[in-house]
Amino acid sequence: MSKNLKPLMIAGTVVGATAVYLWQQKQKRAGETAVQPPFSQQYGPWAIVTGAARKEGIGYGFARHLAGRHLNLVLVDVLGDELAARAAELRQKYHVKVETVTLDLGKPDFLPALQAVTDKLEIGLLVCNHMFTPKETPPILQMDLDTHHAMLDINARAYTTLVHGYGRQMVAQNHGGIIIVSSQAGLRGMPYTGAYSANKAFQMMLGESLWYELRDTNVDVLVLAPGLTNTQGDALADYPQIMLMEVDPVVKETLDGLGRKHLVIPGPVNKLFNFATTHLMTRQQALITNGDFMAKGLRKS
Ligand SMILES: NC(=O)c1ccc[n+]([C@@H]2O[C@H](COP(=O)([O-])OP(=O)(O)OC[C@H]3O[C@@H](n4cnc5c(N)ncnc54)[C@H](OP(=O)(O)O)[C@@H]3O)[C@@H](O)[C@H]2O)c1
Repeated sequence: MSKNLKPLMIAGTVVGATAVYLWQQKQKRAGETAVQPPFSQQYGPWAIVTGAARKEGIGYGFARHLAGRHLNLVLVDVLGDELAARAAELRQKYHVKVETVTLDLGKPDFLPALQAVTDKLEIGLLVCNHMFTPKETPPILQMDLDTHHAMLDINARAYTTLVHGYGRQMVAQNHGGIIIVSSQAGLRGMPYTGAYSANKAFQMMLGESLWYELRDTNVDVLVLAPGLTNTQGDALADYPQIMLMEVDPVVKETLDGLGRKHLVIPGPVNKLFNFATTHLMTRQQALITNGDFMAKGLRKS
């Protein structure tokens, strides 16, 4: 064999072997998908949804769609009255059982109060969706340290506590699913909402790693990374409206992907934005694009 051909042969063999491996993995996953049990059997009979109180919110969107798929619900939020109103709506429309737990998930010892309700229930799905970020979105150094720490407690510590407790339970019962609602802001730095971006990156890494670690169990993990979603009324009015998604398609794409995907970036515009910022520019250019985008949307420039 000539000297010139040898590297080509080696490269061809590596590419070929990789293609065969990827194809085999795909076939394996397709086989797994084909024998999946019905949704309510795999992820029921009860689902926990955190941050489910606000009518316009993504959490209530999950609650509606899960009730539509015949799951009973444990709704958790800090807003007790709104939570009770959402629960009544769901019971009336979908005829499912709904428990509400009014809790501050920023308190380090919140878990026993939640377990007091869930211990008697079989939890098949956990949707970690709640979040706290100050409305004024101050830059990192202008935000006081107590707020940084509160955000870490609510957006990072509580996610870990929930995933750890209910994830172990699901592995032991040999079925279940965990959805972690992160954000596009978790994929790369998001100036002017930097603490939130860091919290979202934490959630994303937690979820992606857990997906791999539970791959050979019957517990499915999925990270959702929405872009702008229509939950905040006029607060998003200064962003390009083509980037704004409604809650229902975000939730539907996520639930359809559960058990099949590890990450959902919902909608074509978010997917395109993600492609452009990961493939058509350097990470630094993507960061500057994010900063300029936020400065405009938040009227900081
Ligand atoms: N909307 C978007 O454009 C967008 C984009 C990407 C990702 N996401 C993610 O999607 C998820 C839902 O967002 P959303 O826009 O639907 O927000 P949302 O309606 O404000 O939902 C968050 C809920 O969590 C509650 N919460 C805050 N702190 C809590 C605490 N300590 N204990 C218990 N509950 C607490 C909030 O109550 P309060 O209202 O009292 O704070 C609120 O009801 C979040 O994780 C968010 O990061 C949203």
